[in-house]
Amino acid sequence: MKKGLFLLFFFASLFIKAETITSPNGKLILDFKLNETGEPIYSLTLDKMQVIKTSKMGIEIKDNDSFLSGFKVASYDKNNVNENWEPVWGELKTIKNNYNELIVNLIQPDLRDRKFTIVFRLFDDGLGFRYIFPEQQDFKNFIIKSERSEFALTGDHKAFWIPGDYDTNEYSYSHTKLSEVDATFGKGFNEIGSKTIIGKNFVQSPLMMKTADNLYINIFEAALVNYPAMQLKVNQQNFILTSELVPDANGNMAYLQAPCRTPWRTIIISDKAEDILASKMILNLNEPSKIKDPSFIQPMKYVGIWWEMHIGTASWNYADMNVPELKSIDWSKVKPNGRHGATTERTKRYIDFAAAHNIQGVLVEGWNIGWEDWGSYYREEVFDFVTPYPDFNIKEVTDYAKSKGIKMIMHHETSASVSNYEIKMDAAYRLMKEYGYGAVKTGYVGYIIPRGEHHDSQWMINHYIRAAEKTAENNFMICAHEPVRPTGLHRTYPNWMACEAARGNEFNAWSKGNQPEHETILPFTRLMGGPMDYTPGIFQIKLDKYGKKEQVHTTLTKQLALYITMYSPLQMAADLPENYEAHLDAFKFIEDVPVDWDDSKIINAEPGDYITIARKEKGKDNWYLGSITDETARNFKVDLNFLDKDKSYIATIYEDAKDGDWFKNPMAYNIYEKTVKHGDILELNLVPGGGTAVSIKVK
Ligand code: NOJ
Ligand code: CA
Repeated sequence: MKKGLFLLFFFASLFIKAETITSPNGKLILDFKLNETGEPIYSLTLDKMQVIKTSKMGIEIKDNDSFLSGFKVASYDKNNVNENWEPVWGELKTIKNNYNELIVNLIQPDLRDRKFTIVFRLFDDGLGFRYIFPEQQDFKNFIIKSERSEFALTGDHKAFWIPGDYDTNEYSYSHTKLSEVDATFGKGFNEIGSKTIIGKNFVQSPLMMKTADNLYINIFEAALVNYPAMQLKVNQQNFILTSELVPDANGNMAYLQAPCRTPWRTIIISDKAEDILASKMILNLNEPSKIKDPSFIQPMKYVGIWWEMHIGTASWNYADMNVPELKSIDWSKVKPNGRHGATTERTKRYIDFAAAHNIQGVLVEGWNIGWEDWGSYYREEVFDFVTPYPDFNIKEVTDYAKSKGIKMIMHHETSASVSNYEIKMDAAYRLMKEYGYGAVKTGYVGYIIPRGEHHDSQWMINHYIRAAEKTAENNFMICAHEPVRPTGLHRTYPNWMACEAARGNEFNAWSKGNQPEHETILPFTRLMGGPMDYTPGIFQIKLDKYGKKEQVHTTLTKQLALYITMYSPLQMAADLPENYEAHLDAFKFIEDVPVDWDDSKIINAEPGDYITIARKEKGKDNWYLGSITDETARNFKVDLNFLDKDKSYIATIYEDAKDGDWFKNPMAYNIYEKTVKHGDILELNLVPGGGTAVSIKVK
C-alpha cells in the first residue's frame, strides 16, 4: 500500500474509532463513535448480546443548522460515581447510585467549531444519555424542531404499549409485536376526556419490551424539565424506535437558551423482569432534593368524597343547571339538586372514619363552585378555587379535621384551563394555608388552555413543575391527575407525592374498565417514573348494588394486594366508608399497611401476568407482601428468606376464597393467621383476577 493511502486509512480509522465504557459490573458495554459523515452513533450490548444496534443521535434545530452530523470529537471525559443517598420517602431506605460516565465533547468544524455534548451514564441495569448545549457565541436562543435519538432494536420484540398521544395516557395496554402496533385503535376510547393520537405507529414511553431471547428492555426518560415529553415512533420494518416530541400550538417542540440540557433518554435492561421493577436508575438520573426542610412531607393514606361521584350516587355539582358566568351567581339563592356529595356533614363522616381507622388524610371533591359546567370544551373560567358551595362550611370542616388529627386534602380540578389556574394559584394556596390544608390534588380533564398546548408539551411540563415548586414553598404536598407521566422528579421535589397519568381504578366505575392484567403491566410502564395515585381499595366490586352494569375487574383481596404491588406514598382507600364497615376484617389490612418503606423485594414478576413484592415497614421489622395475577389462576411458593433470622412473626393472610374469581365470585375471601420465621415457605393460591395480601408482623 502506498504510504499516503496508508496514512489516510490510518487517520480515517482513528476518526471512527469507538470509545467504549462498561457498566460497573462489566456486563453492559456502550460503544460510541462518529460515522463517516460525522454523525454520532452508539450501540449497547449485555453479556455479548446486542441490545441496541448502531443508533443515531442528535437534534434538529429550527431555522438554524442542526446538531446531527459534521461533528468531530474535541475530547472525551470519563468519570465513575459510586454513592448512596437517602430519599425522603420511598421503597428503599438507601439508594445506590453507581455508574460509569462518558462525556463526549463534540464540535462542528464547518460551523466555526460549534459545540455540542453528549453524556452517557452506564449503570449495571441500563444506560442513560442526554444532550447538552454548552454556552457559546452565536448560539443562544433556539427552537427544537425534532429530536433524533434512535433505539435500533435487534428484532420484532413483544411490546406493552399504549397509543402515542399528546394529551392522555389513560388507555389500557396492548401487547403485540412491534410490527403489529396499530395505535389508531385508541380512537375507540371515547371515555377519555381529551385525545390527540399521533398516528398508527407511535407509542408512548415508558415502553416495555421482551425479546425472543427473554431479555426485558424498557425505554423511557428521566428528569423531564423545560422540554416536551418523549414518545416513540416505531419503524415497523427495521424496528428502529425514534424519539418523537410533543409539539406546542405552533408545531415547535421546545424553546431553549444555551447553556441547557435535555432530559435523559433511558434504556433499562435485564434478563429478569424483577430487575426492571427494582431499578432505581430513573431516580438516580434526577437531581437531589431542592427542599431544605422536608418535615412537612408525610406519606399518608387517605379517604375522601370521591367514589360516590364516579359511581353516580352523588354529584360534584351543587345544582343541575348551566353557569355561564361564575361571578353572576348568588349561590345562596340556587336550588340544590339534593345529590351534592361534598357537604359538611358527609365530610365529617369521612373524618370520623379516617380517625378511627389509621387513615391520615381526607380529600373532598366538589367543594367549590363551578362544577355545574366543568369539562366543557375549551371553557376558560370554570373554577375560582376559593369559593365553597353553600353546604360546605370550610371552617367547620377544617376545625373538625384538626380536632381529630386529620389532614385535609384540597382539590383543584382545573378543567384543563391552566391559564386560569396559573392566575388563581396564589389565592388558592392562600386559602389552603388559612384553613390548614396539608396537600392538594390537582386535575387536568379536557383540552388545554392556552389553546393548542398539550398535556405533554413544554409549556405544560413547566406548569406541573411550577405547581410542585409553589406548593413546596407553601409546605403542601401535591398529587396531579391527568398530567404528563412522572420521570423521577419526585427525587428533586419530594412534595410531589404521586400522579395519576395513567388509567386509574376510576375507569372501572364508568367505562369498560381495566382488564385483570392491567395492574400487572402498570409497574413495568407508568410506574417506572414514579408513584401512581391509582386509588385502590374498592371492596364493593360489583356495581349492580348501585344499579350499574360495570364492575371492578379484580377480586376484593387483589385490591388489598395493590397497596404493595403499586407503590405510592399517598394511597387512597377509595371505597365508601359504608362498604368498608361491611368488611372491617379485610379493611384491617388497609388500616395496617404502611406507605413508606425501608426495603422492597421483588419476589417474582412478569409483565401482563403477575407480580409479587414484599416490603419492610420504615423504621420497623414488619413486612407486608402483595401478590397479584391477571385472569389466570396461579400458585406461588414464596421463600420467606427476607425475614430476620432471630425473630418470629405472625403472618395474617388475606386471600380469595378457593372458588374466588374476579367475575364470578370476586368478594369472597378468607383471612387467617400463622406463625412464620425466616426460611419458611408461604404458599399463595391466586384465583383468576385475584390477589393475596399478607402482613407479617414481629411477634
Ligand atoms: C379525573 C380524576 O382522575 C378523578 O380522580 C377526579 O375525581 C375527576 N377527574 C374530577 O376532578
Ligand atoms: Ca383521570
